[in-house]
Amino acid sequence: MPEKADEKPKEPLTDTDRFMAGYAGKSAMQAAERDGVLAQIPETGWVLEVGTLCGVSVSYWARNRPCVQFVSLDPFVKGTGTGPGNEAHWRTNAQSNQQLIIGKSCNMALQKSGAYLAFFDVVIIDGDHHRDWCFFDCVNAHWLVKPSGKIIVHDYGREEKHLLGVTQAVDRFCLFANYEITARCKTLVVLKRKAPTGA
Ligand SMILES: C[S@@+](CC[C@H](N)C(=O)[O-])C[C@H]1O[C@@H](n2cnc3c(N)ncnc32)[C@H](O)[C@@H]1O
Repeated sequence: MPEKADEKPKEPLTDTDRFMAGYAGKSAMQAAERDGVLAQIPETGWVLEVGTLCGVSVSYWARNRPCVQFVSLDPFVKGTGTGPGNEAHWRTNAQSNQQLIIGKSCNMALQKSGAYLAFFDVVIIDGDHHRDWCFFDCVNAHWLVKPSGKIIVHDYGREEKHLLGVTQAVDRFCLFANYEITARCKTLVVLKRKAPTGA
């Protein structure tokens, strides 16, 4: 990620960011952010995306990382940031290395069974942007990501009223769970566990 940790995101989303030829529906990330996430994804492994919308961004990553398995999580429930047809778009965009789980990070059945504990190399959080939901997503991501893995959160530093909760949630999570922001690109932050101190 090229940007320094103290740079503030400014540019609004353009149609060039939202719509990509060969994909159904729209993405909610700037093109630079999609590439910023891609740069954080290893060549092999597992990635969880919390909040997928039409699956445009995740399909872009899946096409560029054919040896990585991508799991997307979204409740597709009206009133929580989704719209009619998004699930159908997701299925149109899906590559063979993608899976969809209808739900939220807090009630992810696989998480409860323990099958996905400390499993993912990268968890990308872009679901419900309210402070408490985003915080719960970060906490759940902590259990789902490998100790050496990364949690990436979208919309950090945004000053719009309905997005302020993301920054509050991330800052609180870093404090309580001992994570730190290690990289930043536009409104994306990459969180990693701090190295343990002392003996
Ligand atoms: C901003 S969009 C995601 C954009 C997508 N990551 C992209 O890059 O295009 C937010 C999505 O989060 C979903 N969502 C809302 N609440 C959620 C929750 N608690 N857990 C997971 N996803 C949620 C909405 O249905 C919506 O599709």
